[in-house]
Amino acid sequence: MGSWWRGAPCHLELLLAVILVGVVNRSDGGVTSGFVRKVEKTIDMPLDSDIFRVPPGYNAPQQVHITQGNLDGTAMIISWVTEDEPGSSEVLYGTDEDKLELSAEGKYTRYKFYNYTSGYIHHCTIRHLKYDTEYYYAVGIGHTVRKFWFTTPPAVGPDVPYTFGLIGDLGQSYDSNVTLTHYESNPKAQTVLFLGDLSYADNYPNHDNVRWDTWGRFIERSTAYQPWIWTAGNHEIDFAPNLGETVPFKPYRHRYHVPYRSSSSSSPFWYSIKRASAYIIVLASYSAYGKYTPQYKWLEAELPKVNRSETPWLIVLMHAPWYNSYNYHYMEGESMRVMYEPWFVKYKVDVVFAGHVHAYERSYRVSNIAYDIVNGKCEPVPDESAPVYITVGDGGNLEGLATNMTEPQPSYSAFRESSFGHAVFEIKNQTHAYYTWHRNQDGNAVAADSLWFYNSYWKTANEASAM
Ligand SMILES: *[C@@H]1O[C@H](CO)[C@@H](O)[C@H](O)[C@H]1NC(C)=O
Ligand SMILES: *[C@@H]1O[C@H](CO)[C@@H](O)[C@H](O)[C@H]1NC(C)=O
Ligand SMILES: *[C@@H]1O[C@H](CO)[C@@H](O)[C@H](O)[C@H]1NC(C)=O
Ligand SMILES: *[C@@H]1O[C@H](CO)[C@@H](O)[C@H](O)[C@H]1NC(C)=O
Ligand SMILES: *[C@@H]1O[C@H](CO)[C@@H](O)[C@H](O)[C@H]1NC(C)=O
Ligand SMILES: [Fe+2]
Repeated sequence: MGSWWRGAPCHLELLLAVILVGVVNRSDGGVTSGFVRKVEKTIDMPLDSDIFRVPPGYNAPQQVHITQGNLDGTAMIISWVTEDEPGSSEVLYGTDEDKLELSAEGKYTRYKFYNYTSGYIHHCTIRHLKYDTEYYYAVGIGHTVRKFWFTTPPAVGPDVPYTFGLIGDLGQSYDSNVTLTHYESNPKAQTVLFLGDLSYADNYPNHDNVRWDTWGRFIERSTAYQPWIWTAGNHEIDFAPNLGETVPFKPYRHRYHVPYRSSSSSSPFWYSIKRASAYIIVLASYSAYGKYTPQYKWLEAELPKVNRSETPWLIVLMHAPWYNSYNYHYMEGESMRVMYEPWFVKYKVDVVFAGHVHAYERSYRVSNIAYDIVNGKCEPVPDESAPVYITVGDGGNLEGLATNMTEPQPSYSAFRESSFGHAVFEIKNQTHAYYTWHRNQDGNAVAADSLWFYNSYWKTANEASAM
């Protein structure tokens, strides 16, 4: 506990800031939750689990998942796997469930990893979709046909309400299944922003890629119906020279496509999308990000393109957190923070979501950008232009919870708790969003942590007009 911002002078700006972000009792600051959960081992669901079952029928499409297919949300990438033979890569779709009058032709690929050979992995982008519309689609044309549906987002614009779920480090343990079930019980969440570390197949001997397939079947009950926006984590690297596997991200790249070209990115590991009133930038913690690298140049050009009159909410996703006060992966995000944090402050990013640390944590609005090698200014300071940093690496994978925290709780850390769960970011309009974190032990209606977000770009104008 301890007082909020020990030693910081009590400026009026600071007080205002505290009131504006809207948390009551902020003056107490820096909470380490007292919630005590049952300590249990986190174990993976066995291969014969109900949710890993292969759908019946010859060459039936499995592991169906969808993600946004272009910059503005009028396209969707539909992906699935067939095991017996390639079959058709065609998607039939339409707005009338009984008459799928449109069609698009995709492609399939497959890969080998050590002694594993994948099924036929199909990807098909369907385009020119109408906004805010329910679509039905069918895959497996010619053999076993399976039908699903999804709703397109409303047109991109400043006052469009939209609700995102946040899930990270999911894996395929019994706890992962509880996290997904808990997330699904929220009727409002429309799209998942996934923070990296998907299947954890690499924890198995020879990175047993069968666990990529079981993971795809496990999450299908959500990913076939609403888009999951993908961020790559360290468990996607699958770099195993001892197995002769020297091309990083091979399984991930084959299985999970993202629309990186539509945001002028040269790599699927960093890209952006607009969805409703949000501009979402996905960064790559495990691709080069130093000066002159492709990711650096792309981000440098990308941030000025964000038009906050069109998409007021600027959200960044990455795997390794910059502000983390657990004794796990401590400071792993530090070098990327040093490179990009000044930009996040300059462009007033609203919130940065990360995973990697298997626990939950939320920061105050802080920045640490004054240091110049000789001036000794290397402490995070309160900064109303800085994002809130949130770690939601608590999906429930087999590695278990991160429970060991740095003590005392650093002044940048607003709330931390090591429990499995997920978060929800509910955009209400141009200026307000309501954020909640839900630990798995509670019912869906309970928020273990919550915060009203006042849009970082628009709050200055609003403040001014209010005075
Ligand atoms: C791959 O090799 C491992 C041992 O190295 C073996 O246990 C496994 O059955 C093999 N898998 C296939 C698909 O051949
Ligand atoms: C996973 O969760 C689903 C939905 O709650 C349930 O039907 C299923 O039995 C669970 N499976 C396992 C292996 O926990
Ligand atoms: C930003 O978006 C607004 C609203 O869509 C639009 O009127 C304006 O022209 C855009 N500005 C630029 C520089 O594109
Ligand atoms: C917690 O982490 C610190 C730093 O790595 C270590 O010194 C300490 O022994 C750990 N405590 C426990 C209970 O594991
Ligand atoms: C935006 O949403 C907040 C919270 O629901 C509400 O208090 C505020 O009045 C809304 N602003 C406008 C302009 O509608
Ligand atoms: Fe990770």
